[in-house]
Amino acid sequence: MDRKKFYITTPIYYPSGNWHIGHCYTTVICDALARFHKMLGEDVFFLTGTDEHGQKIEKEAQKRGVTPMQFIDPLVSELKDMWRLLNISYDRFIRTTDEQHVKSVQKIYQKLYESGDIYKAEYSGYYCTPCESMWTEAQLVGGKCPDCGREVTLQKEESYFFRLSKYAPRILKLYEDEPEFLQPKSRINEMVNNFLKPGLQDLCVSRTTVKWGVQLPFDPNHYAYVWIDALSNYITALGYMSGDDSLYRKFWPADLHMVGKEIVRFHAIIWPAILMALGEPLPKRVYGHGWLLIGGDKLSKSKQDQARGQLTDPYELVKRYGTDAVRYFLLREIPFGSDGDYTGEKLLNRINADLANDLGNLVSRTTAMICQYFGGNLPPRGKTEGVDGELIALAEGAFEKVKRAMDGLNAPDALAEIFNVVSRANKYIDETTPWLLAKDESKKARLGAVLYNLAETVRICAVLLKPFLTESPKRILESLGCDAEAGFDTLAFGGLKAGVPIEKLPPVFPRIDVKKELDEVDRIVKSKKKTIEQKNPKAEEVQVSEITIEDFAKVQLKVGEVVACERVENSDKLLHETVKIGEEVRSIVSGIAKYYTPEEMVGKRVVVVTNLKPVKLRGVLSEGMILCAEDKDGNLALVSPEKEMQSGGSVR
Ligand code: MSP
Repeated sequence: MDRKKFYITTPIYYPSGNWHIGHCYTTVICDALARFHKMLGEDVFFLTGTDEHGQKIEKEAQKRGVTPMQFIDPLVSELKDMWRLLNISYDRFIRTTDEQHVKSVQKIYQKLYESGDIYKAEYSGYYCTPCESMWTEAQLVGGKCPDCGREVTLQKEESYFFRLSKYAPRILKLYEDEPEFLQPKSRINEMVNNFLKPGLQDLCVSRTTVKWGVQLPFDPNHYAYVWIDALSNYITALGYMSGDDSLYRKFWPADLHMVGKEIVRFHAIIWPAILMALGEPLPKRVYGHGWLLIGGDKLSKSKQDQARGQLTDPYELVKRYGTDAVRYFLLREIPFGSDGDYTGEKLLNRINADLANDLGNLVSRTTAMICQYFGGNLPPRGKTEGVDGELIALAEGAFEKVKRAMDGLNAPDALAEIFNVVSRANKYIDETTPWLLAKDESKKARLGAVLYNLAETVRICAVLLKPFLTESPKRILESLGCDAEAGFDTLAFGGLKAGVPIEKLPPVFPRIDVKKELDEVDRIVKSKKKTIEQKNPKAEEVQVSEITIEDFAKVQLKVGEVVACERVENSDKLLHETVKIGEEVRSIVSGIAKYYTPEEMVGKRVVVVTNLKPVKLRGVLSEGMILCAEDKDGNLALVSPEKEMQSGGSVR
């Protein structure tokens, strides 16, 4: 018999770099769901990837004097590293620059053009570059982008339009006939009230000004609108309209598109309309999850630097607390479907309360007692008596409850069910007092039964935790002499064989001293901010010690020419220069905005420290430092070669 299939997708990420813990949220949830369905024995296809076309990338690359691909490639690697760090088990990582995707998008456009769903007309609208979204004047809020509040630009051009308006009645009917299609329910009201009721306009789906995109096959002056290009990934990744569409035939329609609430509009209106126009089946479910907030605001790239003293960098968080702890926090803390506040303190409290105390203690007490009282060999199950029944019933019944929660995509509830068993087992230890039983030789069999029940409960919890935590459950299972790959088919109580060697496990999650850790984090965040602001200490505070000529030779100084310059967003101190150093072009951020305008900077010959470790300042890559002289009042002046000097020349 064919296995049930489960096709799950994350949105494809903008390769923007500067990843924060909010970015990990969608993907970690999808990973837990994908792992859960794999453990159910289903044929799972888990898709993620990157959304690489559009004006934003084109501009960023231009600013740096590199090609879009040169700009994107390292960012995509960074993102993949992040997913590796978080043990994301995707089956395919699609890039919208993949040749096969591009070709399929062209075919999709061609088909819609031929069927008359795409037509040519003049477009005039307000474009928000960061969101890659178009708005009508009426949709703007205070003249700004209604999604992100940033400036928009009026654009007029001949464009191709998609007949979105035609599909409005069918989309309304879809919400009525299939209320499961868009969840949570509140999102349906948002879509109906904010978009469908006011009336859908046809959607402009081509550009002539942005060349970094998919060229339209029927008009090479036009390039695909990035959202159509991006949404299509869900089917092109399966080979739709390619030479081999077997995966498409097997996995489409998607069982779940998991997306953040700000992009529900694209997934629940535009995407079904495109699929209707293509005559393809619709995804079964779109879920618009809430956001990780910081101080009440969406944690976002632009807010990250001022993230109110919180550590939000996923690499740093995983380094400090481990993959499982970060995954656990994301999956457990935020009530599913709603927004949730992120603070370092909440994260640490979760780690301590649930992982170190509840789970960690249960595991270490159970394995330690088996080692102490039974020489490390699991005693036989023995008779069930007293409070045993309650614990066993809870452990045995947990899978059904976890499954019910996961059917509703609700990882926090699923984890709550598992930790309910963990807490019950800890209480069971207090009730059965094994250390007192151990004092009485006549109670040895009872002691054995109690420890067996505990080991079995720990085993069941570890198996149930496997979709959520990817490292510790395996360690726990191995310490109980079990196969780390054990699946849900091993969940019946009584699976452990008497006599198996049990290993005493050190704390799986060491307890963290919250106060000390928060102080340390505060120190790290402050020192990061200091680098970001490039705050120079006052001259008199600098301790100057002598250096040798060899020390000085370690600093590589070169002449550069500023070829482009602009202010760094949200900073009154920083300028972002593009500096040509010989053949090379570098992106450099300097704290000189009070002394030079971007216009003044362009064309200047400067001295650059070229072997400084690259850093990101306010999210912008800085690959060097431009030298300045500073007077006692802190005024800055650029250091330049006194005579005309070619860029690339070294300074000694
Ligand atoms: N490229 C589009 C998606 C195209 S899908 C056809 C995009 N990319 S994104 O990089 O901006 O966002 C990727 C995911 O990260 C989205 O689901 C978004 O909601 C999520 N998050 C980014 N910041 C977030 C929080 N602060 N909290 C929770 N998730 C958030 O949108």
